[in-house]
Amino acid sequence: AVDRAIRPRKLSDYIGQQGVREQLEIFIGAARGRAEALDHVLVFGPPGLGKTTLAHIIAQELGVNLRQTSGPVIDRPGDLAALLTNLEPGDVLFVDEIHRLSAVVEEVLYPAMEDQQIDIVVGEGPAARSIKLDLPAFTLVGATTRAGLLTSPLRDRFGIVQRLEYYSVDELTTIVDRSAGLLNLAMEADGATEIARRARGTPRIANRLLRRVRDYAEVRADGRISQGVAAAAMDMLKVDDSGFDIQDRRLLSAIIEKFDGGPVGVESLAAAIGEERGTIEDVIEPYLIQQGFLHRTPRGRMATRHAYVHLNVPAPPRIEDPN
Ligand code: ADE
Repeated sequence: AVDRAIRPRKLSDYIGQQGVREQLEIFIGAARGRAEALDHVLVFGPPGLGKTTLAHIIAQELGVNLRQTSGPVIDRPGDLAALLTNLEPGDVLFVDEIHRLSAVVEEVLYPAMEDQQIDIVVGEGPAARSIKLDLPAFTLVGATTRAGLLTSPLRDRFGIVQRLEYYSVDELTTIVDRSAGLLNLAMEADGATEIARRARGTPRIANRLLRRVRDYAEVRADGRISQGVAAAAMDMLKVDDSGFDIQDRRLLSAIIEKFDGGPVGVESLAAAIGEERGTIEDVIEPYLIQQGFLHRTPRGRMATRHAYVHLNVPAPPRIEDPN
C-alpha cells in the first residue's frame, strides 16, 4: 500500500528488464497504432520483481482501464463471467497468481481468450441451458511465480510471454536512488549501493529495506543514509552481507547440518525448517540457486561449496567415485 508513491507508472520509468521493456514497447505501440486490444500477456518470475507494476504500466500505456483480481479469489465460473462482461473494449484484466485458478474457472477463460466469447449456464436442472455471450476485445495479463505451474492449454493462449529476472546491483541502486528521491531522503551514493547489494535482486525488498534504513537513520543518526548507517541498520535486521536473511540461512544450514549437505527432498526440508513447501520453492530457493549456493538435482536439494563457506562450516572432502 505504501508502495503507491514510488511505483513507476510508465514503461520509461521502469528500470531493468531491458528485453521485456523493449518488446512491450513494440507490442503496445503496434496495438495502439492499429487501435486493437493488445494480445494476452503472461508475466512470470519470482515474487517482488514487478509483475503487478508491469500490468499497471501496460494498461496505462495502452490508455485503458485495469481490472485486477487473483486466481484464488475467483470461486465460481460466474465470478469470472461477471468480470469479463463488465470490461470496456480494450481493457486489461489482470489475474495475479493465475496458476491458482480452479479447473472450472479456467474452462471459462479458454473461449474468452480465444474467441471473445463465454458460455454461461442459466437455470438449473432440466431447464438449464447454455448461452453464448460476446465479450468486448480485452487483454488478459496473467502473473505467476513459475510458468511451469500453468496448464498447457492456458499457457498456449498467451501471445506474449515475458520472464522477469533478478535485478543487478546497479539496477537496484538506480531503483533505490529513485525511491529515495521520491521520499525526499538524504541518500549518499554508497548508502544506496549498500541497500541494493543486500536486496536479493528484488525491488520490493530494496524498497522495504530502504524504509527500515530510513527509520534507523532518523533515530540512531541524523537522518542521512551513509553506507555505514545502511550497513548497521541491515545488520540489525539480520540481513547479511550477501543479502541473505534468516530464512535463507536457516534453509542452507538445515541442508548442511541436518541432511549432510543433501540431496534432500523439498518436503523433508520444509518439515525441518517449519516452512511451507511453496514458500521454499517460490521465494527462498530461486535466489539461492541463482547465486550458486543451492543446487537442485533429481534426488533433491544440495548445498554447494559457497554455502559451506558462507556459513563458516568446513566443507566435506569430495567423495570419490568408487569405480
Ligand atoms: N519498482 C518495482 N519494480 C521496479 C522497476 N523495475 N523499476 C523501478 N521501480 C520499480
